[in-house]
Amino acid sequence: MYAQMVDTGANKLRALEDMGPEERAFQERVDADVKIEPKDWMPEAYRKTLIRQISQHAHSEIVGMLPEGNWITRAPSLKRKAILMAKVQDEAGHGLYLYAAAETLGVSRDQLVADLHAGKAKYSSIFNYPTLTWADIGAIGWLVDGAAIMNQIPLCRCSFGPYSRAMIRVCKEESFHQRQGFDIMMTLCRGSAEQKAMAQDALNRWWWPSLMMFGPPDADSVHSAQSAQWKIKILSNDELRQRFVDQTVPQADYLGITMPDPELKWNAERGHYDFGPIDWDELYNVVKGNGPCNRDRLQTRVKAWEEGAWVREAALAYAEKRAARAQKAA
Ligand SMILES: [Fe+2]
Ligand SMILES: [Fe+2]
Repeated sequence: MYAQMVDTGANKLRALEDMGPEERAFQERVDADVKIEPKDWMPEAYRKTLIRQISQHAHSEIVGMLPEGNWITRAPSLKRKAILMAKVQDEAGHGLYLYAAAETLGVSRDQLVADLHAGKAKYSSIFNYPTLTWADIGAIGWLVDGAAIMNQIPLCRCSFGPYSRAMIRVCKEESFHQRQGFDIMMTLCRGSAEQKAMAQDALNRWWWPSLMMFGPPDADSVHSAQSAQWKIKILSNDELRQRFVDQTVPQADYLGITMPDPELKWNAERGHYDFGPIDWDELYNVVKGNGPCNRDRLQTRVKAWEEGAWVREAALAYAEKRAARAQKAA
């Protein structure tokens, strides 16, 4: 998802009986759905895992602005341009809430950004694919933001207060993003044969990477059980992926386009769609830094950070001047 394969540092779950009094009290609060707040006692591994998860999520929001941002100047109408600008700006806001939530755990935003720029921190694999046509903007909103909602709605109930509250606002905005994407796809599918072919081509290229967003199969997700015990992961990768497929296939039918999966079919017995095998080598390769756009995305972020240095310096100088003036007046 926007945070994939987050390392919890744990290799086996601990039972309540094996925990010290502080950890047991913590786990009992989590089990009772009482939120953990920044000043509360928490196990060090919980704090570190949350920093990894929330910062990966924040980086994904910020890097996720790039594939869509490069279509703002080429949007086909003024209305589409205004909508896309608002959407990309929302993603910047999501990044900011999430960096702020991570900071409550005792890490600085500068450090998190430095880790991203040094290639030490991950962000979602999905943002390492290129946006080749306008239809890709439709496919991203429909599929990528759609997958994000699927993952983030359960996270509104996660155990860490600042993260769960950030998710509530983020999800409201994501549902607007998903609908704007579907609206672009609908317009293309109702247009000329060429436009419909563009929509189909975008679906062909984004479908499998969207399914990979949910992360490796449950059997291979070593850290999931610990994250589930801490309630910072509510549903498993495979459960979320299945929900996403079940929700999205009827939407493609409505659009009159088809998923690029010959094995996709309704399974009445299971009450779910069956789907073909996912190329996990591709996911691991992209996560390792070898996707089509990994290098370009990082370079663009670093360049933006360097070119924005004067804005940060000016804001700091202004804040210092104001503080000095207020002190003088007092
Ligand atoms: Fe977002
Ligand atoms: Fe979004």
